Amino acid sequence: MGLDSKQVALLVLLVASVISVVIALILSLVKSSEVPLPPGTKYGMVFDAGSSHTSLFIYQWPTDKENNTGVVSQTHVCDVEGPGISSYANDPPSAGKSLVACLEEAMNIIPPEGQRGAPAYLGATAGMRLLDLKNKTASDMVLSEVSKTISRYPVDFRGARIISGKEEGSYGWITINYLLESFMKYSFGGRWVRPVSSKIYGALDLGGASTQISFIPKVEIADPEQRADFKLYGFPYSIYTHSFLCYGQNQALKQMLVKAVEGKDLSQPINIPCYPAGYKSTIAQASLYNSPCTVKSAPSSSLVQDITITGTGNSTQCQDLLKTIYDFSSCTGKEFCSFEGIYQPPVVGKFFAFSAFFYTFDFLNLTSGQDLPTVKSRIQTFCAQDWTELQASFPKERTDRLREYCANANYVLTLLLDAYKFNENNWNSISFMKQAADTDIGWTLGYMLNLTNMIPSEASASVRTQSYDVWIAAVFFIVLTLALGLLMLVLYFR
Ligand SMILES: *[C@@H]1O[C@H](CO)[C@@H](O)[C@H](O)[C@H]1NC(C)=O
Ligand SMILES: *[C@@H]1O[C@H](CO)[C@@H](O)[C@H](O)[C@H]1NC(C)=O
Ligand SMILES: *[C@@H]1O[C@H](CO)[C@@H](O)[C@H](O)[C@H]1NC(C)=O
Ligand SMILES: *[C@@H]1O[C@H](CO)[C@@H](O)[C@H](O)[C@H]1NC(C)=O
Repeated sequence: MGLDSKQVALLVLLVASVISVVIALILSLVKSSEVPLPPGTKYGMVFDAGSSHTSLFIYQWPTDKENNTGVVSQTHVCDVEGPGISSYANDPPSAGKSLVACLEEAMNIIPPEGQRGAPAYLGATAGMRLLDLKNKTASDMVLSEVSKTISRYPVDFRGARIISGKEEGSYGWITINYLLESFMKYSFGGRWVRPVSSKIYGALDLGGASTQISFIPKVEIADPEQRADFKLYGFPYSIYTHSFLCYGQNQALKQMLVKAVEGKDLSQPINIPCYPAGYKSTIAQASLYNSPCTVKSAPSSSLVQDITITGTGNSTQCQDLLKTIYDFSSCTGKEFCSFEGIYQPPVVGKFFAFSAFFYTFDFLNLTSGQDLPTVKSRIQTFCAQDWTELQASFPKERTDRLREYCANANYVLTLLLDAYKFNENNWNSISFMKQAADTDIGWTLGYMLNLTNMIPSEASASVRTQSYDVWIAAVFFIVLTLALGLLMLVLYFR
């Protein structure tokens, strides 16, 4: 039983109208997201003045979208020659001079018309926090010299300062989640939505002089000292964050050496299980106690001796030695506690471990999600290698670094397992990463985003949240209704 020509015409009309309604709806979705003008590009730069070195990060973003998440990207990194700025305590002007080469490089990268409007910052971390404790005059002079140098360049310089451990932890956490678009996500139809099941990552940062842990715990954060609250894109976040001064890699190893020589006859060689088997060197006794992290352990006698140390390359003993640098006893009787009596709720969710966590594990090829037993056994094998063989296997590696991978790797293990209390079950929730979205992970991006107000605390009009999903559902419902109507019409004519 066929349809007559009138019925065919009606059907064609109906199909055509359904198609045009669908097209109109799709167009209305897409239209509002269209980029109206070719956007200009803005630049910004941040010096990360760490304890052992300084890096300059240059960022760029399209001006018309500056309040959107995920649009700031890294243009360039410049590594400053020489040590961290805190090492210039006795010669502050040289701290300023050390930045010149990277500033010149930046001026070649940022086009002249973009320079005046480019916000520029210098943030100093734990190395300068320690210098500030040791000699405030010296740290002020260093900051003033680096400021003088940066001020000579035609950028919008907004100051050099020492950032607090809490800021360092918070900005690292913001950087990761901004780059992974955990706050807002660019979605179908060109709108910004908050991901429905917000996948927020925790941050694990390891520097030379301090280490930071930041995450959103399952439980209410009981100690306001370790809590940071902020509102991003209209949503409140409360994160746990703590920075341990003296527990960055270099200061931790200094503490380890202090423990190793404690109560020993220093005229005899001292065995260090964290250095490779067969490694031997002489260190000045005074060099062990020249930091605020170890000065309290200095013996009262004069520190004139040279100490001979010999590596034994034993991971198990190395971890036992490293565990003695943490004060776990202050946590006795406390339910949620890492060390030094510091409150820490149980770690939960996924984490990114970056900076020295990444560099150490990357050298050992341990960044591809290996399980904990594999990691432990790889570190054990590496440490047991003879120093001469090790040097032959890695002829390009700097000797002072090569010597310390065994110690650093074991330090990472004790910090994550014994201090922060990760375990075999949640070990694989940690990703060892250097970058996300082609941008280095660290505190600098979060710092710049916050200080330039590029993460508004209120959601802008263009940001849709749940209502966007309702909108999608409505479109779907309309299309479904029309299709059903059409089907019924066809059946009716039959
Ligand atoms: C970004 O946000 C700030 C403050 O919330 C506002 O002044 C500025 O106009 C916004 N910029 C754009 C491109 O939306
Ligand atoms: C602190 O640093 C300044 C500047 O380098 C130096 O002149 C002074 O002697 C130092 N003070 C101490 C106590 O080391
Ligand atoms: C890591 O892997 C590379 C390439 O396979 C290899 O050359 C290097 O020796 C490995 N490093 C270690 C510490 O095993
Ligand atoms: C960001 O800056 C604002 C001031 O502009 C400050 O109140 C807020 O605490 C900062 N956010 C973080 C995470 O430090």
